[in-house]
Amino acid sequence: CVRSRIAGFGGALPERVVTNDELAATLDTSDAWIVERTGIRERRIAAPGELTSDLAARAARAALADASVEAEAVDGIILATSTPDRTYPATAVSVQAKLGLTRGFAFDIAAVCTGFIYALAVADSMIRAGAARTLLVIGAEVNSRILDWSDRSTAVLFGDGAGAVVLVAHTQEDGPGAPGILSTHLHADGRYEGILHVDGGPGSTGTVGHVRMQGREVFRHAVAKLAAVVDEALAANGLGQGDVDWLVPHQANLRIIEAMGRKLGLPPERVVVTVDRHANTSAASIPLALADAYRDGRLKRGDLVLMEAIGGGLTWGAALVRL
Ligand code: ACO
Repeated sequence: CVRSRIAGFGGALPERVVTNDELAATLDTSDAWIVERTGIRERRIAAPGELTSDLAARAARAALADASVEAEAVDGIILATSTPDRTYPATAVSVQAKLGLTRGFAFDIAAVCTGFIYALAVADSMIRAGAARTLLVIGAEVNSRILDWSDRSTAVLFGDGAGAVVLVAHTQEDGPGAPGILSTHLHADGRYEGILHVDGGPGSTGTVGHVRMQGREVFRHAVAKLAAVVDEALAANGLGQGDVDWLVPHQANLRIIEAMGRKLGLPPERVVVTVDRHANTSAASIPLALADAYRDGRLKRGDLVLMEAIGGGLTWGAALVRL
């Protein structure tokens, strides 16, 4: 049967590093509070004029080079973002142009911090259905443009960046030992839009708006819903605690990440953490973490990787992938 397999990884970060101490110079916060509650030590912030599509195109080029795939072979670009360059066209189309491509399709997916899992699920389905053979799947954000920089409860939590994978079709025997995306699990519950949202948009206020979050409520949902979707992903593949090699989670809060690592029976060194250096880059956090851990040799071909995320919507999901 035809399955999809990750053939290459890429990441891109803005140059500018902003430390917790720098934020504490203008906000009533401290490095100690931010590190203790979130694990975040610093984040990257895009330069003026640096767009989501700029970071996404850089990450895409890196992923294509890693996969040794020519850009011309790409059948489509699926980009997850909540901070598009413009209302339209889709940022994926701008990335297509920046890569010099005129062939294939390109569209965006909006599922906030779960965006990369959603994009991966759609791309995997298209490849399995025979609608494409080579896809770029990207998560990219400039969260800094939708933050209220006077609100300490959100401004300290987010950062900018992009990550990408090249997903390719390959034919093989089914089974958990074979490389490829084993399963994806998507959820949404719009009743909870009030606890994490942006208070603007073209259809409502006509302004871009700012991130508003009831952190403690989101935390409560995150722990319960991520635990449930992790169980769902393991059960769907006949796996149990201790069977997964790596957890590559959405990077919002170190305490949530560590709780999920314990749930999977993984030692801390088998949980990929970037939240300390990147903060929460929303849809970009999982592909950035994948690129980071692949580049430094932690992730290896044949490893079984669980990805999970929760974000505004609420949306949440998981993907189980044999590299
Ligand atoms: N510095 C200092 N104090 C602060 C700060 C800050 N940056 N932010 C809030 N505080 C204060 C609050 O005002 C509050 O003070 P009070 O007790 O006097 O009212 C106190 O710290 C405790 O606030 P809580 O919000 O209860 O703190 P908590 O321990 O819950 O940590 C946090 C907050 C880090 C936001 C946590 O709740 C969290 O990580 N939530 C989940 C976020 C998440 O996972 N989001 C997922 C997806 S994000 C997306 O989809 C875009």
